[in-house]
Amino acid sequence: MRIIAPSVLSLDYSRLSESVQEVNDSKATWIHYDVMDGHFVPNLTFGPDILKGFSKMSNLFLDVHLMIEDPVKYAPIFIEAGADGITFHSECFDSVSQMIEFIDVLHAHNVSVGITSKPETDIETYKDVLGLVDLVLVMSVEPGFGGQSFQESALDKIRTFDSLRKEHGYNYLIQVDGGINGETAKDAINAGVDVLVAGSYIFKDDISEKIEQLWNI
Ligand code: DX5
Ligand code: ZN
Repeated sequence: MRIIAPSVLSLDYSRLSESVQEVNDSKATWIHYDVMDGHFVPNLTFGPDILKGFSKMSNLFLDVHLMIEDPVKYAPIFIEAGADGITFHSECFDSVSQMIEFIDVLHAHNVSVGITSKPETDIETYKDVLGLVDLVLVMSVEPGFGGQSFQESALDKIRTFDSLRKEHGYNYLIQVDGGINGETAKDAINAGVDVLVAGSYIFKDDISEKIEQLWNI
């Protein structure tokens, strides 16, 4: 399984429609959409209305990564605006039972559900929900900004999630996000990744060529 998910955080918004058209015509099948609230991470990005615009411009799977303090309140609004998948941070929940309740709500809305955490968070805190999610996102940078360097420690985490799914028969996809380029993508794929998120690598260069390169690894 290989899915390329260009992160529109790094898109050149002075040429929005041409860039999205290039992504539509490429080997990418997802669009990664980073929502930041200035509290959970020290940056601000886009709300649901802009997602509606992407939904009109593209038929690709809209993969929404919520880096916000209150995913329970806002996820339904992003679903209404066109999200096909919602990925939330484990740090936003005090207990596993709250996470399970939220995952059930998201599934009732017929979206794919992803879980993630900041690099320093112990994955033990959400191991018990891994059988319930469709995607596990491994953050290979501190969430908040594009253009950071890939943290090698993500590779061990990817291997752990890959072993856990084999061991327990879980069905989630493994996604990696942060510092992905031709080299780090190779390492991540070898470690067990299915979904590559890449922002600056794709959008700061020739969009279709970079997507093609990630596809051909
Ligand atoms: C960072 C975001 C990423 C970001 C990755 O918090 O979650 O999706 O766009 O950007 P690059 O690929 O430039 O590291
Ligand atoms: Zn992201």
